[in-house]
Amino acid sequence: MSSEIKHNGFASKLGAILAAAGSAVGLGNIWRFPTETGANGGAAFILIYILFMLLLGLPVMISEFVIGRYSQKNVSESFYSMSGGKKAWKYMGLIPMGAAFLVLSYYAVVAGWTLYYAVLAGMNDFAGKDAVQYAADFAAFSSDPVQPWIWMALILAMTCGIVAMGVQKGIERGAKVMMPILFIFIVVLVICSLNLPNASLGLSFLLKPDFSKVTGSTVLSAMGQAFFSLSVGLCCLCTYACYFRKDVDLIKDGTSVASIDTLVALCSGLIIFPAVYSIPGLQPDAGPSLVFITLPNVFQQVFGNLPVLAYSFSLMFYLLLVMAALTSSISMLEMGAAYFEQNFGISRVKCAIGVTCVCLLLGTCCSLSFGVWSDVTVAGMGFFDLFDYLVAKFIMPVGSLLITIFVGWVVDKNIVKNEITNGGTLRQPLYPAYMVLVRYFAPICIILIFLNELGLFSWL
Ligand code: ALA
Repeated sequence: MSSEIKHNGFASKLGAILAAAGSAVGLGNIWRFPTETGANGGAAFILIYILFMLLLGLPVMISEFVIGRYSQKNVSESFYSMSGGKKAWKYMGLIPMGAAFLVLSYYAVVAGWTLYYAVLAGMNDFAGKDAVQYAADFAAFSSDPVQPWIWMALILAMTCGIVAMGVQKGIERGAKVMMPILFIFIVVLVICSLNLPNASLGLSFLLKPDFSKVTGSTVLSAMGQAFFSLSVGLCCLCTYACYFRKDVDLIKDGTSVASIDTLVALCSGLIIFPAVYSIPGLQPDAGPSLVFITLPNVFQQVFGNLPVLAYSFSLMFYLLLVMAALTSSISMLEMGAAYFEQNFGISRVKCAIGVTCVCLLLGTCCSLSFGVWSDVTVAGMGFFDLFDYLVAKFIMPVGSLLITIFVGWVVDKNIVKNEITNGGTLRQPLYPAYMVLVRYFAPICIILIFLNELGLFSWL
C-alpha cells in the first residue's frame, strides 16, 4: 500500500500559514500560558519561554516542515524513508504520533469546558453571581460525570467533521475563517483589558522579571510551554507540511507562525493579568481555574455598571477560546487520520471517526479524573494531570529531540538544504544558523534540561 499523500494540499500560501498558525495558537496560548506564567513568577518565565521559542521551538518546527514537505508521507514512513530504510527510525516515528492521541484526549476536555462556557456566556449566565458561586459552579460542572463528557464529545465531533471534509474544504477553509476572527477578538479584548483599573499591576507582573523565582523546574516548564504552544514534537506540523506548496519559504513561514504564536500568548497575558489585578485580592497563580472561575467573576465585577460590556467581553473571550482550541485539535486529529488513510487505504471519513473514538475513550478517563475518578492516580497524578505532564514535559521534548537529531544528523544534508532553499531558487542566509541550532544547540539544550530535572546537577 503506498503511503504517499494522495489528495490536494493547501491551495494558497496564506492558507498554509493560517493552518499552521491555527495548529500552534490554541488553549496553550490562552489557557496554559497564563497558568504557567502565573505559577512560575511572571516576566522571568516569559523571557526564558521566548528564548526557547526562538532557539528550540522554531528550529524544531522548521525541521518538521522539512520532513513533511520533502517526504510527503506520514511521520513514521518519513522517518523510515529519509533515514535510508532504517527500521528503528520507523518505530521512533510512532512516538510523536502516539503523543498526538494523548494530547488531543486531554485537550478535548478543556476545549469542551470552553464550549460550555461560551454557551453560558451567550445565555448571560454569569450575570449577578458572586466569586464563591463561580467557583462552586465550576467545581460542580467539572466533577459531573456526564456534562463535561458531552461537551468534550461535541468538540471532538466538530473537529472530526472539519477533518473529514478534507484539507482544502475543511482545514484550510476553517483556518481562513477562524483565524482572522480570533485576531480581531484578541485586539478588542486587549484594548478593553488595558483600560481596566489597576491594569498597570498586571502589566508589571507580565513585564518586570524577578529572576529569584527561576529554578530548574521553571526552565523545564518554559521549555515544555514553548513546545506545547508551537505544537512541535508531535509532528502535526510534519503532516501539514505535506500539504505545503513547493514555493513556500520554510524558514520565513516558520518564523511567521512562531511570531504569531508568541504574540497571541503575550496578548492573552495582556488580557488576563490586567483583568485579574483589577479586582483586589485575586491572585494571578490561580492555576487552570483562572480562566473558568476567576475570569467570569472579573468580567462581571469590572463591567458591573455596564452589563452589555460584561456580556460581550465574556462571550468574545470564550468564543476565542473555542476557536483557538478547534484549530489546534484539527491538526492533532488530522495527523492520526492521515496516517491511517495513507497506510491502510481507509477512507478519510472513516479514519477521522476512528481516531475520534479513540480520543473520546482516553478523554473520558481525563474528564472523569475531575470527579468520580479523582482518587485514581498514577505517580500521584490523576489522568488529566498525568497526560499534561507526560505530554508537555516529557513526550514533546523527546519528540523534538528525535526530530533535531534526525534532521541534523541522519537525513542527507543536501535534502535539508534543498528544502530550505526550495531547490536552490531561494537565497537563505539563515540556513547555517538553522543547521547549528538543529545539530548542536537544540539537542544539547534539551538533554541538559532533562538531566537537570533528574537532579544530575544538584551538586553544582
Ligand atoms: N499548540 C497548541 C496550543 O497551544 C497545542 O494549544
